[in-house]
Amino acid sequence: MSRILTGIQSTNVPHLGNILGAILPAIELSKKDNTESLFFIADFHALTSLKNPTLIKENTMAVAAAWLAFGLDSTKTIFYRQSKVPQVSELTWYLNCYTPYPMLANAHSFKDKGDRLSDVNVGLFTYPVLMAADILLYDTNLVPVGKDQIQHIEIAADIARSFNFKAGKNLFVVPEALINDRGMLVPGIDGQKMSKSYNNFINIFLPEKELKKIVMSIVTDSKGIGDAKDPSMDNVFKIFKLLANETQTEELRQNYIKGGFGYGQAKTALLQLILDNYKEQRINYNKFMANISALEKELAIGEVKASKIANEKLKQIREVLYF
Ligand code: ADP
Ligand code: TRP
Repeated sequence: MSRILTGIQSTNVPHLGNILGAILPAIELSKKDNTESLFFIADFHALTSLKNPTLIKENTMAVAAAWLAFGLDSTKTIFYRQSKVPQVSELTWYLNCYTPYPMLANAHSFKDKGDRLSDVNVGLFTYPVLMAADILLYDTNLVPVGKDQIQHIEIAADIARSFNFKAGKNLFVVPEALINDRGMLVPGIDGQKMSKSYNNFINIFLPEKELKKIVMSIVTDSKGIGDAKDPSMDNVFKIFKLLANETQTEELRQNYIKGGFGYGQAKTALLQLILDNYKEQRINYNKFMANISALEKELAIGEVKASKIANEKLKQIREVLYF
């Protein structure tokens, strides 16, 4: 039995990049035999950058609704809010006391901001330790994440190994990162990586009119309707291809190559594809967002299970630390 665990920060509504790059592959993985999965909403981590309580609450619900809309089964996967299993903060403290300062000073998440230290809160500095606690509290074997998180998983593994060594026993499972080998990178509406930080993302759950506005704003070159176009250079085509089947992709490719087909038409085709592919998910997402108590109920199932595992693990850890 292998245990997989991953978290998504509740800093925004999940966008198409998060869904294709993180949520869907994790749900696929959770269906494999001999795996037990824990997926959680990292709302403690979100506090390092987001301070507005209303927004944090809204985003937490939006992340939960997105996972459930895309088929997470809360009776099979342990699905929970990080803050509802606050035992993780106790473990964070213990790990803090076992983590050498330079290890954190070298973490990208902190180092990148090293020239603006007045903007860095201590939570951001110790972010990787909280992440290690998320992972080690549940005896996690595999952590599916994007490439940008590899260093954090290495830190968690280092902390686990050094703690085990000092304790003289294998108290913690040493985790490994699992990188989505399709390496799917969804481009944003401006052609850079889709990211909430670049404000170039497509929120597929928006009402049709607003979604249309976003899709229509995808940046293209200035070729006219009559011109032949190169599909491999175009953002609309690149996003379309990630969502379409082979026949649909081929049809659009031919339209680009032969000319007489404008970018406006390509964008309309992409909008229609999003609406068709995600019809059910859009309905489910909105149902959950309109019924927060149903969402709370789904999360509560996982929070009870996660708490039980956390309590047992903490008991073992306290025994090692105090006597
Ligand atoms: P963002 O860049 O929007 O802040 P996060 O860093 O919160 O996204 O990423 C959450 C998860 O979604 C990670 O596993 C990350 O690898 C994945 N992800 C984010 N953006 C993309 C993208 N454009 N394409 C594929 N996966 C992505
Ligand atoms: N830091 C991760 C991100 O920004 C989110 C996260 C928090 C996480 N704790 C985790 C991911 C534990 C995997 C395992 O994407």
